[in-house]
Amino acid sequence: MDNKEISQAVIARLPRYFRYLGELKNDGIERISSQELSDIMKVTASQIRQDFNNFGGFGQQGYGYKVEYLYEEIGRILGLDKTHNLIIIGAGNLGQALANYINFERRGFLFLGIFDNNPKLYGMKTRNMEVRPIEEMESFIKENQIDIAVLTIPKSGAVGVAERLVQWGIRGIWNFAHVDLNVPESIQVENVHLSDSLMKLIYNVNRVEDEEA
Ligand code: NAI
Repeated sequence: MDNKEISQAVIARLPRYFRYLGELKNDGIERISSQELSDIMKVTASQIRQDFNNFGGFGQQGYGYKVEYLYEEIGRILGLDKTHNLIIIGAGNLGQALANYINFERRGFLFLGIFDNNPKLYGMKTRNMEVRPIEEMESFIKENQIDIAVLTIPKSGAVGVAERLVQWGIRGIWNFAHVDLNVPESIQVENVHLSDSLMKLIYNVNRVEDEEA
């Protein structure tokens, strides 16, 4: 089935399934029922069955799911059976933190380059990469078949940089800049705003405090 037909809400839950199944697999668990998975993940068993039915079900009635098979199938649906070449634009605190997080590589996300427009940072080592000037980005993208760009620059420069990235063949942007990018629909953008998550947390903390008062 074409992933385009699957709702984004289901797609958004797949990484969590993938993570839990990876842990079960590492613990040597070979088979799991939707009820057991539901207990571990705190998602209803019917939600799990509905989600998996989008992809043909993955299981047999009364038999449960084969953990390793399910893990690999969900990984394949997510595209994690292939490697992806990424660059980071903005070698500041956030860009360096992402470059230094090695678990991305284990999932097949290969950070191949990091770029900045501050000459003081050129040549600075971030893990196994040297910070490069932004002027080298176009040729680097083409020579290294980069498909994903991570934007960790202030919002003032982000829209313009994103437009150029699209011209140079980038297919997806992981956008940390606090601005909506102006890119064609065919380009996938995932906006990340850590403060949204923090605000949601604070709302819930305050709500519980109000209820207890
Ligand atoms: P930072 O100031 O440490 O790093 C930003 C880097 O981007 C600097 O090295 C700067 O020289 C470079 N830069 C600026 N304009 C550029 C351009 N046009 N082309 C190439 N490089 C450029 O800032 P930090 O802490 O790393 O944060 C980066 C951005 O991400 C900030 O704008 C911040 O607001 C945002 N941010 C977003 C978060 C989120 O959850 N979405 C969380 C934290 C920061």
